Amino acid sequence: MNRTTERTALVDLSDVSKRYGNVRALEGVSLEVRSGEITCVLGDNGAGKSTLIKIISGLHQHDGGTLRIEGEETRLTSPREALDRGIATVYQDLAVVPLMPVWRNFFLGSEPRKGAGPFKRMDVDFMRRTTHAELLRMGIDLRDVDQPIGTLSGGERQCVAIARAVYFGAKVLVLDEPTAALGVKQSGVVLKYVAAARDEGLGVVLITHNPHHAYLVGNRFVLLRRGTMVGNHTRDEITLDELTKQMAGGSDLDALVHELQDS
Ligand SMILES: Nc1ncnc2c1ncn2[C@@H]1O[C@H](COP(=O)(O)OP(=O)(O)OP(=O)(O)O)[C@@H](O)[C@H]1O
Ligand SMILES: [Mg+2]
Repeated sequence: MNRTTERTALVDLSDVSKRYGNVRALEGVSLEVRSGEITCVLGDNGAGKSTLIKIISGLHQHDGGTLRIEGEETRLTSPREALDRGIATVYQDLAVVPLMPVWRNFFLGSEPRKGAGPFKRMDVDFMRRTTHAELLRMGIDLRDVDQPIGTLSGGERQCVAIARAVYFGAKVLVLDEPTAALGVKQSGVVLKYVAAARDEGLGVVLITHNPHHAYLVGNRFVLLRRGTMVGNHTRDEITLDELTKQMAGGSDLDALVHELQDS
């Protein structure tokens, strides 16, 4: 890789806006995703986090500002197009088939075949072996890749989805609140695999409500409030304390404390 490509962001959003009818969902938001880095998007409910990643993953289009992918100005028209450009998104309600084995889900939609003509069939052995090996490479030692994916814990399922994106050659991995429904221990496991994806050289967008989770792994922090960007910091510009305060909305929280004391 030469120095120029190294310096170009994988994804670069600049002054992006998006409205749904009369609702201004995003206004003047900028964000960078770089290879080997984790960009965290923080904000309360309705802040615009999901809208932002839908623009990056090709589900919605922005109305204003620019989206650049590896330096090239782009307007993504479908999730397929985003995927072809190397952007893989793991949504919170994972698109898995709960009763199918882990290996089927790992290869879902991209099954390798062997043989020719009428004898062409899915290469089950290859899929089993590869799923086990790829999960192991990410540090997940699954005893049985034949168990239905529905029997895995929420955290393990997130990890399978991350390993899958890495295996299929994603450059950018977008995760919408992967730890939202998880306990402390499972959150830690998922964050470990997010870090492993980063160490493989992917650029990661991590959406979260939780400043502690963000600060454990993040290189950049974008803070949204009611659709506007109230902060955009690199790690050396902000402490966990400041991030938590900005996230809690400072004065809003003070007002709540008073309200609760008065009642
Ligand atoms: N398809 C849509 N049509 C109309 N309004 C929408 C649509 N999607 C989102 N919005 C509005 O845009 C704003 C931002 O929503 P968004 O889902 O991006 O927030 P979020 O930060 O992901 O929230 P949460 O933490 O609850 O997931 C909200 O006011 C929401 O009601
Ligand atoms: Mg959301």
